Amino acid sequence: MPDGHAHAIRPATRDDVPAILAIYNHAVLHTTATYDYEPRTLEQRLAWYEEHVRDGLPVFVAVDAAGIVAGWSSLSRYHAKPGYQFTAENSVYVAEAHRGQGLGARLLAPLIEAAQRRGLRAIIAVIDSGNEASLRLHARFGFEQVGYFRQIGYKFGRWLDVVYLERLLEPSASPAG
Ligand SMILES: CC(C)(COP(=O)(O)OP(=O)(O)OC[C@H]1O[C@@H](n2cnc3c(N)ncnc32)[C@H](O)[C@@H]1OP(=O)(O)O)[C@@H](O)C(=O)NCCC(=O)NCCS
Repeated sequence: MPDGHAHAIRPATRDDVPAILAIYNHAVLHTTATYDYEPRTLEQRLAWYEEHVRDGLPVFVAVDAAGIVAGWSSLSRYHAKPGYQFTAENSVYVAEAHRGQGLGARLLAPLIEAAQRRGLRAIIAVIDSGNEASLRLHARFGFEQVGYFRQIGYKFGRWLDVVYLERLLEPSASPAG
């Protein structure tokens, strides 16, 4: 279906991790959306998932009626130091065959709601400067460019520029710490 509404968005379960991994690894091998060179293993991705569950950080999937995962999104800790506890970094990945149908937007929206509910102050998106789809997607959700790093990435024999976008959220009344 062209509008992407053939898919439901729901929190990911452990059983979704192989599909999340496959979508990510395709991007590793074929795009500069991620600067990983080597596909991740299922063991690594399961550990990533368990860490998110333990820390109460959201992972969402887009699934069709047959339960096939077409995309995923997540919030991760931006930095381990406690002073960064109210900041998260987001990820959104849609399987190649399903891009451009609005799924990226439907996967990003609940991340922002989850961040707000959790009392976070900021979400950071780290995006390759050539990734037009991701830049437009994030701009639509109020992410603003706060940094531009020239040539800090290298993949497929090319130097790559990286854009940092930030989405501020309503501050919680009195954050602990
Ligand atoms: C980036 C990505 C998540 C966007 O998801 P999507 O489902 O294709 O995006 P949507 O259909 O919701 O469209 C989002 C915006 O991107 C635009 N867009 C989509 N595909 C595009 C393309 N190939 N080139 C330029 N813009 C594009 C849409 O027009 C839309 O812009 P608008 O809001 O101004 O109308 C998806 O392309 C993807 O998974 N890419 C590979 C992984 C990746 O780059 N992840 C992000 C890492 S920072």
